[in-house]
Amino acid sequence: MFVETLARVEHVFRPLMSFLPDNLAVRMFSAGRTFFAERLAATRPADRSVPIASTSSSTIWGKTMNSRLWNAAGMFKKGEGYTVAARQGAGAWVAGTTTSLPRVGNTKAGVTWPVAVYPRTRLASNWLGLPNPGHAAVAARISKLERHPGCLIGASVSADPGMAETEALQGLVDGMNAYDAAGVDYLELNESCPNVPGHHDGPALDDGLIRRLEFVHQHVLAKRRRHLPVVVKFSVDTSVDQLEDLLVLLVTMGFDGVILGNTSIAYPDHRQFVHEREMAHYDYFTSTFGGGLSGAPLSPLSLNIATLAVQIIERLRPANEFNIIRCGGVSSAADLDESREHGIQFHQWYTGYYEAFARYGHDCYRAVVSPR
Ligand SMILES: Cc1cc2nc3c(=O)[nH]c(=O)nc-3n(C[C@H](O)[C@H](O)[C@H](O)COP(=O)(O)O)c2cc1C
Repeated sequence: MFVETLARVEHVFRPLMSFLPDNLAVRMFSAGRTFFAERLAATRPADRSVPIASTSSSTIWGKTMNSRLWNAAGMFKKGEGYTVAARQGAGAWVAGTTTSLPRVGNTKAGVTWPVAVYPRTRLASNWLGLPNPGHAAVAARISKLERHPGCLIGASVSADPGMAETEALQGLVDGMNAYDAAGVDYLELNESCPNVPGHHDGPALDDGLIRRLEFVHQHVLAKRRRHLPVVVKFSVDTSVDQLEDLLVLLVTMGFDGVILGNTSIAYPDHRQFVHEREMAHYDYFTSTFGGGLSGAPLSPLSLNIATLAVQIIERLRPANEFNIIRCGGVSSAADLDESREHGIQFHQWYTGYYEAFARYGHDCYRAVVSPR
């Protein structure tokens, strides 16, 4: 199939990008990523979900999933790609992140939605700025989807960055209600996008966050007419010292889980591991755009913080099912095995998904989700 061949060929030639001038490399990769993602989302591969379902199906919040791995938010921002994810064997699919007003996202230095890859380091940068068509448009699209058994439907939402707080909170709740009416299986509250001013990008526990969680608690969680799980997503950079307080807050307010986590902005920490051939592009991107880092180097961070979260939740013993979802650097069966050894059951992937797609094509879930 065209997209599988394209991904394989691009992956082979990708390391050559480091020989291009920095701005040209970012322009080329950013345009290429958008082109490829649109085509991938529109493909209709043969259904691979059943073999996974028969060996490793699982439940979350009382619903069956074909596997415990699915895409991280930001891959299907407009609500596209459900069928391809389901047929590949994903246990769920998540649209968004969306905001109440549509957003065009970031453009700088002649690049729209800047992205860079450092393939030798297995790292990537992005500074997209939450482009999306808005909660209402994506909810309407989801309401028309033909469901695939074992592939749950989620939506990632955020309060509008830069909007006055009262209006932003109301827009967030209206969006969550629109997704509820569209029949989603769960919601993610994105509290950790580093690519828009005013979003949370590190140590998370501050007054603004507490007010948002409290508002969602009062206006969504406390008024649920059906059990619509809501999880909160923080950065992998979240301070471990704040983790227990954060989790106590989420459990007390009736949230249903946490995703750990979003991209990292700890540029100096990751810089020491960047391959020397890729250092110039890394420095160019982080100094020109900033952005969030994703990919394999996040794996120890997400493992560590998700493991701590599992231990804290075991101690807190919430009355309701509260799930820890690991995200960040997940790319292989070995990552999933390591998680299980630490009591982590659920995973999302983004950068690793594209790596696996380049290697295994539409069999990427079957290659990584081991039959147990
Ligand atoms: C291009 C790109 C766009 C992203 N957009 C979003 C987004 O809209 N919402 C969100 O919560 N996370 C977003 N993320 C973060 C991912 O969901 C994920 O948390 C992060 O990439 C770490 O996982 P990974 O190492 O498997 O890529 C985005 C990541 C990338 C690479």
